[in-house]
Amino acid sequence: MHSVPTVDDLLTLFPSDTARDSDGMLTVGGCRLDDLAGEYGTPVMVVAEGSLRRRARDYRDLLARRWPDSQVVFASKAFPCTAVQRLLVSEGLWLDVAGGGEIVAALAAGADPATLVLHGNAKTTEEIALAVGSGVGTVVVDNLDDIVRLDAAVPPGHTQDCLVRVIPGVQASTHAAHATGHEGSKFGLSPAAAKQAIARIEASGRLRMLGLHTHVGSQILRADELAAAVAPLAALGQYPVYDLGGGLGARYTYADRPPTLDEYLDALIGAAREHLPTGARILIEPGRSVVAANAVTVYTVITVKPGAVTFVAVDGGMGDNLEVALVGQRFEATIANRVGGGQMVTVVGRHCESGDVLSDGVPLDKPRVSDLLVVPATGAYCYTMSNNYNGARRIPIVFASGGQARQVVRRESWQDLLARDVTV
Ligand SMILES: Cc1ncc(COP(=O)(O)O)c(C=O)c1O
Repeated sequence: MHSVPTVDDLLTLFPSDTARDSDGMLTVGGCRLDDLAGEYGTPVMVVAEGSLRRRARDYRDLLARRWPDSQVVFASKAFPCTAVQRLLVSEGLWLDVAGGGEIVAALAAGADPATLVLHGNAKTTEEIALAVGSGVGTVVVDNLDDIVRLDAAVPPGHTQDCLVRVIPGVQASTHAAHATGHEGSKFGLSPAAAKQAIARIEASGRLRMLGLHTHVGSQILRADELAAAVAPLAALGQYPVYDLGGGLGARYTYADRPPTLDEYLDALIGAAREHLPTGARILIEPGRSVVAANAVTVYTVITVKPGAVTFVAVDGGMGDNLEVALVGQRFEATIANRVGGGQMVTVVGRHCESGDVLSDGVPLDKPRVSDLLVVPATGAYCYTMSNNYNGARRIPIVFASGGQARQVVRRESWQDLLARDVTV
């Protein structure tokens, strides 16, 4: 399908408040992408603030409609930018934080510590002390050593609420690096080991056994695979809270057909009705499916190299989007003011790796030097995995809404690249 996309096909991959100006230039949140590129430089990530807010509300409302005592907990790791977290917190979402850095960011974003859910398969003593000391509401126990460290960190007279992460034994059809629910996963405890953890928490005077957690993996395009994790939890007993994880896939390509929120929640909450106590509270932890579709990255074409394969090379790449190199995720692309159609090219980045490909085989309309090239669906796991490979400066983030733009993260400076060197 990606060989002949129509303009309409392409726009379905963009944030809902994307349009084309009279001269064909794309606008996101009412802002022309050439204006944003002119003001903030390229590469730049543009977040459609209104459409992100609507997605958060849909998640919250559609879950609450099915299970009133419920809570959406945004998986910060998908986009740990304080402006994003602040927006989601303002819509009533809690935050899942994996490790000390994400606790610090969530607190800086103004999240109530009681609404933070701490994860990590290798939480250090320092991170556990930070969590307990900051009043993080819920800690997800991933191994028996977490219990030892937590017991030592909680001051006398206090208690720390805990969930136990259970491996549900669900092999999801996603990239191996994204799967976490199968037997042998490094995350969580087998049901037998979870029983041991539960007994130890219940025996501790400082820890409270609040409930169970499970997470099947990420970029999962089948609702039944996500729902399959619920029944194994029920076998471990009845608790006040069940955190059913995240994992709903996002739409990156024309071929992707992720379940809608309604389809996903029908399946998940259907399984909860069948297997979990009616009085329990249910948490879900989506990351990718909240943010992926609500941001685009704008690059400048630096060179077009014709040949057996025509390479269109841009001023970013695996420094700002590792998803392609890491898990082979396919992304689509277009020239910002000549949307859709054209000749097949391969869009590559500026980094010294042949795997530094942004889009392998994508039709672009007469790409030339200085064109603006846009990659949709970059809101998840791109900012968070951005890096300084080849001296790349991490890119800015701009929120666009109602024709107004505001920068929420600035581009790194050359000086920033040297900032941690003790001797220069
Ligand atoms: C424990 C946990 N919860 C939630 C998520 C969010 O997953 P996703 O971004 O696929 O929704 C992850 C990431 O894989 C995770 O590890």
